[in-house]
Amino acid sequence: MASRNALGSSGEKPGAERHGGAPLDTAHGKTDAPATSPAAQGGNSNSNRAIEIKDLVCGYGKNQVLHGVDFSADLSKITAIVGSNGSGKSTMLKALFGLCDVKSGSIHALGRDITHVPTHSILGYGISYMAQRKNVFQDLTLRENLAVVTGLRNAEQAMDHFPELLPFLDRPAVTLSGGQRQLLAMAMVLVHKPRIMLFDEPTAALSPKNADIIIGKIKDLNAQHENCIVLVEQNVKHALRNCDKVYLLASGNVVYSGDPATLLDDKDLASKYLGMTPQ
Ligand SMILES: Nc1ncnc2c1ncn2[C@@H]1O[C@H](COP(=O)(O)OP(=O)(O)OP(=O)(O)O)[C@@H](O)[C@H]1O
Ligand SMILES: [Mg+2]
Repeated sequence: MASRNALGSSGEKPGAERHGGAPLDTAHGKTDAPATSPAAQGGNSNSNRAIEIKDLVCGYGKNQVLHGVDFSADLSKITAIVGSNGSGKSTMLKALFGLCDVKSGSIHALGRDITHVPTHSILGYGISYMAQRKNVFQDLTLRENLAVVTGLRNAEQAMDHFPELLPFLDRPAVTLSGGQRQLLAMAMVLVHKPRIMLFDEPTAALSPKNADIIIGKIKDLNAQHENCIVLVEQNVKHALRNCDKVYLLASGNVVYSGDPATLLDDKDLASKYLGMTPQ
């Protein structure tokens, strides 16, 4: 069983950080203070802190994927995770949603320890997750899809942010376009009014126009509800243009965290890990 350490002092340093492939701060101070507020957790004074992951080692059974990762994300901000295929981006989100095996390290959300909270309880901690694939029930109508996650009689209420979907409420999801299906998946994530939203590649396989619509919706949600958004994106430029902070993963380690513009300017990192040709 992995440890349930209370958080130590924040390892976060201002500005961008290049990481040497190993976690920056593995020192965990212990405190007996109840994990009810970030301030109670080892003196982290950032009251906007929504997620704090420390020295996380996790994976699937014996397959270790993340090798001691530190990560944090704030309310009212969009935090992006980028990296090549198989670098562990989805696994980061799955760890937050109780979908992979945590070997060691800690995960706190909104001041509470969720390191070993099972997936079926995570919604109660204010966290929603939009999976990379198979994120709607294709054979169910939009109304039925929403009813699966809400039990709501009135699916229209769940559509406040998605009026463009209202005409299709009684059509099976399989008949929607790719972009409309992603909007439905977002609506299903939103119905619980989460403070933390995890989006795994919401624009995958969409046309540039639809991708812009989805990213626009995500930014609107962030601006209107001051929630914490963690966005995994395959379109790196898209992600970097639209986030407040970025993590670059490589082989299950954080190799950069901080300002997105600084990462774009770092020709070494951009060409080595993101396949961007130096200009
Ligand atoms: N359910 C699973 N069981 C075993 N190994 C898994 C599982 N899911 C992912 N992996 C492995 O974990 C590693 C990281 O996968 P992950 O899906 O987190 O990568 P990713 O960065 O999201 O990649 P992509 O950009 O292709 O979506 C890969 O080597 C993958 O094969
Ligand atoms: Mg993935």
